[in-house]
Amino acid sequence: MSTQNIPFNPAPLRDQFPALQLKVNGETAVFLDGPGGTQSPQSVIDAMSGYLAYGSSNLGGPFRTSRHAGQVVQSAREAMADLLNARRPEEISFGQNMTSLTFSFSRALARTWQPGDEIIVTRLDHDANISPWLMAAADRGVTVRWLDLEPSDATMRLDQLPGLLNEKTRLLAITAASNAVGSITDLKTAVSLAHTAGALVYVDAVHYTPHGLVDVQAIDCDFLVCSVYKFFGPHTGVLYGKFDLMESLTAYKVRPASNHAPGKWETGTQSFESLAGVTAAVNYLAAIGQGKTRREQLEHAMSLTNSYEMMLSRRFLAGATAVPGLKIYGITDIERLAERTPTFAVSLDGYTPAQVAAYLGEQGIFVWDGHYYAIAVMERLGLLDKGGLVRIGFAHYNTAAEVDRVLASLTDLANKR
Ligand SMILES: Cc1ncc(COP(=O)(O)O)c(C=O)c1O
Repeated sequence: MSTQNIPFNPAPLRDQFPALQLKVNGETAVFLDGPGGTQSPQSVIDAMSGYLAYGSSNLGGPFRTSRHAGQVVQSAREAMADLLNARRPEEISFGQNMTSLTFSFSRALARTWQPGDEIIVTRLDHDANISPWLMAAADRGVTVRWLDLEPSDATMRLDQLPGLLNEKTRLLAITAASNAVGSITDLKTAVSLAHTAGALVYVDAVHYTPHGLVDVQAIDCDFLVCSVYKFFGPHTGVLYGKFDLMESLTAYKVRPASNHAPGKWETGTQSFESLAGVTAAVNYLAAIGQGKTRREQLEHAMSLTNSYEMMLSRRFLAGATAVPGLKIYGITDIERLAERTPTFAVSLDGYTPAQVAAYLGEQGIFVWDGHYYAIAVMERLGLLDKGGLVRIGFAHYNTAAEVDRVLASLTDLANKR
């Protein structure tokens, strides 16, 4: 039997997550807050505490714990290079989170811009891939152009991209998937159009990474960022950049620190315990699949979890039609599930998003309400001043029974009107 046909069973994986055993009012909690941050398996927790227990040290000392810290950093770089399919581990940098990495990197990249240059940001993006670029553009006298979203299904208007690109465009900052409505961007098309015009591409893959296989070589993006706490690991941000391009830029650094890879984009002391957790998170994902190399395992694992998540999406979409007054913003066509993650932004007639989230929270069902920093999305949908939407986000550790439970709770609330 081909490994592609092995069915995915979340039960043994769920057992690895201590947090998923949490009870609220005697019932097992339902974690549908993954787009805001996922839970961690025991292996990640052990790796992090194991690092601290072994003996913590800074880098570069002539003694065992310092050499160990160096190995922890190198292993994390190798793990992330496998997850993103970077050509080499030196293309991977770590930082506090995606937002901080983007603010510091945008400042360095903007030094190459001239007044009159142009950049493009999108309305489908989280503000962490918008504001840093708006501020950098303002500093350098650079014009900002906006790529719109299509409000009817909350997808990127890539058809408008050619009209925004020209010989002055220096950068396209674009999301791989929306953390609000789940729409996935056709990155290969976006990157190819941008490159043809001579622009670089900075991809925000924070929301996409837990749901699909990232392949920076196939996408051919110049830079890509993600956050390990969104895929079962600790609170650490990751920046990928093409090696030669990264070397050609000047990072803001203190004087003795190297302005070369690896470590060029890492300021101060990293959270080594988190980096131990990064490797464990990638290994957790890899162990879901089979293959000769870790990358092959990851490819297989992500195809399994992706198909399983689509099953959860189908079930949610089918059940949602029976909930009175429930409206889903974004792609609802089950023939188009490959174009979305299992993240659903919804409203319920007669209730504010905050009321819906609070009601579900009382039932032990954890969801977010508001804009989740996808300010431009909510503004474009006309919902920013109306409390945004309720976000129900599934991950591969969720079950069909949990889909049914959130639908049942929404139905109960709808029927109380
Ligand atoms: C799509 C997206 N981009 C960026 C961010 C910001 O990531 P971080 O918390 O690592 O700064 C988030 C966080 O929710 C996100 O969902």
